[in-house]
Amino acid sequence: MTDKVRIGFIGSGYIAGAHAERLTKVPGAALAAFSDVQEERAKQLAQKHNGRAYARFEEMLDQEPLDAVLLCTPHHTRRTPIQAVAAKGLALFCEKPPAFTIEDARACIETIEKAGILNTVGLMYRWADITDRVREWLDGRKVSVCQITGCWSVIYWVKPDSPSQWLLRQDQSGGPMMEQGIHLLDAARRMLDDDVIEAHAFGGNPIEPKSANLTIHDTVLANLRFAKGTLGAHVHSWSHKGWIFQIRFVGHDFELLWDIANNRMTGKVRGVDVSYQAKDDPYEAELAGFVKAVAARDQSLLRCTYADACKSFAATLAAVQSALTGTVQKVML
Ligand SMILES: NC(=O)c1ccc[n+]([C@@H]2O[C@H](COP(=O)([O-])OP(=O)(O)OC[C@H]3O[C@@H](n4cnc5c(N)ncnc54)[C@H](O)[C@@H]3O)[C@@H](O)[C@H]2O)c1
Repeated sequence: MTDKVRIGFIGSGYIAGAHAERLTKVPGAALAAFSDVQEERAKQLAQKHNGRAYARFEEMLDQEPLDAVLLCTPHHTRRTPIQAVAAKGLALFCEKPPAFTIEDARACIETIEKAGILNTVGLMYRWADITDRVREWLDGRKVSVCQITGCWSVIYWVKPDSPSQWLLRQDQSGGPMMEQGIHLLDAARRMLDDDVIEAHAFGGNPIEPKSANLTIHDTVLANLRFAKGTLGAHVHSWSHKGWIFQIRFVGHDFELLWDIANNRMTGKVRGVDVSYQAKDDPYEAELAGFVKAVAARDQSLLRCTYADACKSFAATLAAVQSALTGTVQKVML
């Protein structure tokens, strides 16, 4: 490896651009190359960051001396690029969700383990300052309730001619719970240090009716059972013209609310008010952490392995399947 971590991108859309911008502030990161089936998008980022552009990621992997890859395609495109990255022995930062089907998740876990590559998934709330503080506060306490709310206006960002139309297709994004809800469910798993074992969900379109271009539920509500006994409720809606992102934990003598939209924690512990205003950017922390881990060749510096991210994926998939079938779903991986 040279003194910089040479990074190639597979997929050069919205999140790739956001990550590239943040990586310019991470010492030790070199933005070497960008690939996208829409070559123009790769060229735009390559030009901006002084890298090289490719239409085919296979060509980029063959021609570029890379150390790491950021996989930023939509999640229905995971297995083939992950296999290609593993075959080259490169470090992998895979965007969330880590897979689209359980079969893909299992196959990719096996591929990554066999190749022994350094790996992580872009579940950035694991790196948030408040996640760490809640873990400290919750340590050893029994939690009865975990209430998750994610309501915002994703449906209205996706204009009819937008390349992000796939977000509104159930067979490509999995809808609000899979596409975004996984972030909050994963953060709850990390803070509770627990796994979801069962999900029962309802999905509906109370605001935006389904159509040829909108095949997702606009709102999904899932009840979750965690292995240590906590009961969870997670509602995720994409038809709200605002931003409510919150996770609340309640136990015998405490209540804590992480208002993610304002990066603030408030609550009461044994009758005493607690509050904390964070100022961090978890995206920057996860990218800096990845670059540091690749440079040190040290998986233990990362807060999320691909395999563990797949546990959050499997739990989220159980909620999505439950909303589609009306049946209680066991979490299987
Ligand atoms: N961590 C976060 O907060 C966050 C935010 C946004 C998106 N994401 C995730 O990132 C992924 C991408 O989302 P986005 O919003 O950037 O989507 P996007 O549509 O803006 O960009 C995806 C790009 O991938 C390209 N692509 C598709 N198949 C490809 C292939 N085989 N090879 C190369 N390029 C290919 C598309 O042409 C497109 O340019 C999704 O899985 C999404 O869930 C994560």
